[in-house]
Amino acid sequence: MFKTIEWLDRGVRMIDQRVLPTREVYKTFRGYKEVAGAIQDMVIRGAPAIGVAGAMGIALGASKINTEEIKAFTKDFKKIVRHVAGARPTAVNLGWAARRMEALFEANKDKPTAEIKKILIAEARKMHDEDVLINKKIGANGARLLKKNSTVLTHCNAGALATAGYGTALGVIRGAIEKGKNIKVFADETRPFLQGARLTAWELKKDGIDVTLIADNMAGHMMQQGLIDAVVVGADRIASNGDACNKIGTYTVAVLAKAHKIPFYVAAPLSTIDMDIKTGAEIPIEERSIKEITHMAGKRLAPTGINVRNPVFDVTPAKLITAIITEKGVVKKPFKAGIKALFEKKKKKKTGNKK
Ligand code: MRU
Repeated sequence: MFKTIEWLDRGVRMIDQRVLPTREVYKTFRGYKEVAGAIQDMVIRGAPAIGVAGAMGIALGASKINTEEIKAFTKDFKKIVRHVAGARPTAVNLGWAARRMEALFEANKDKPTAEIKKILIAEARKMHDEDVLINKKIGANGARLLKKNSTVLTHCNAGALATAGYGTALGVIRGAIEKGKNIKVFADETRPFLQGARLTAWELKKDGIDVTLIADNMAGHMMQQGLIDAVVVGADRIASNGDACNKIGTYTVAVLAKAHKIPFYVAAPLSTIDMDIKTGAEIPIEERSIKEITHMAGKRLAPTGINVRNPVFDVTPAKLITAIITEKGVVKKPFKAGIKALFEKKKKKKTGNKK
């Protein structure tokens, strides 16, 4: 199995997702600016994966700070955190990871800088391993929702490549297969970056999972033909009311699923839920280069001199979502109360349920 991201003593190693599936190339990034650049350029992508990459980038940057004087160290550390956290705006996991690294730094500021560096590296590595375990729990929780023989439609790539391993939406598919279910997958190609065609199809094929690739505009037809039993997608940020932001085109799939009475599931870890926002309207939607729309494989297809837009995420309103699958359980409507309860469960566990 490939490794999406890995901490090495000499830097952070990632599989270059821009060149998959034609080439399997690994790149090692040796500084925090390079790691932030890799996130921006989509060498690594997917909300949980960029969270882990962000934490590793921060640890890498901190490990190279050249002073033992804590005031100067703090100044450099904060600069690194700001730089890495700003690499992409939509997936909340990046900010979440940066805040976690910052809080750990604050809690250990009284220690010698050499020790702080070790603590930060250990934390970033822990976040990587935790992410795989979380995805396996999401997989097990979601597996129960799929019927013994199901064909699942997914959009974009919320698989091992979008996480530290196993995946969120594809984790649900893997979890169901591990339980002995017969699951087939329809993968939307996911224009314009083609995460579905290039990445989902590649990693499912590698795992021996039955996958059929379709163009995005074929999803409705497949549903109308009765070929889809459930939709499972990931998320980049979920608002506290359950509105879920995911790869552009997800909203369209959710509307189609509703029209065909097909369950629409969102699989994501708690780190993807943004309790600071009330609805999806508050989520910043990243716009990327218009070249992704006008060009294909480096060749211009659209005429010059026209307007082009490239928002790369959209928001699916909570009312179109059947359930949100997390590592702490499956949340159904009303989402606001259910999501709040997930975080309360987490807090209680931390305080050992003290009265
Ligand atoms: O632009 P990307 O490829 O980083 O966007 C990722 C997604 O939107 C995925 O669909 C995913 O569900 C979120 S990560 C598990």
